[in-house]
Amino acid sequence: MQYSPSPPVIDRERLPVLEQRTSRRKFTRYSLYALLGLSGALSAVATVKMLYPTKVIGFGTKVVAGSVADIKQQLDIKKFSVNQEGKFIILPAEAGKAIAVYWKCVHLGCTVPAPSPLLEGNIQCPCHGSLYKGENGDLIHGPATRPLDWMPITIDAGNVIVDTGTVNTRSAYESNQSTPLS
Ligand code: FES
Repeated sequence: MQYSPSPPVIDRERLPVLEQRTSRRKFTRYSLYALLGLSGALSAVATVKMLYPTKVIGFGTKVVAGSVADIKQQLDIKKFSVNQEGKFIILPAEAGKAIAVYWKCVHLGCTVPAPSPLLEGNIQCPCHGSLYKGENGDLIHGPATRPLDWMPITIDAGNVIVDTGTVNTRSAYESNQSTPLS
């Protein structure tokens, strides 16, 4: 008589459990793939944004100081206009003209305040007392050895624009450093 092996016994009650385990494993694997994909996409977006910034603002860029009418009014009334974003002070250099000076003292870099009526409208550095002319930032006395640095002003669509990316040194005030407000 020939021996024939008996067929394997299938535990039918265990089948659903095995299927469940398999599908849970698949779900975990796919979730992991999704998470990896998502974090990869987010990293790519962050890298592109870092390499190609869409909007740069503040010091180092062209800063809108205000409308021509607004700046004129401030110069008429206060004799200056301070801009925090661009770190400059606009001064009434000549009749109908204005100059923008960088508010960093050229001695050791302290921030100078706006012109003071207590100093005949001049600007005094709080650190070591350098005194600058209130109308154009020219040097009155040191320890600083030159006037406050200046930045070019342009007028565009009725606005006063200061190029804070172009900080110029000088040895004295000259008319070409100021811009007509019209
Ligand atoms: Fe302004 Fe020294 S830092 S006078």
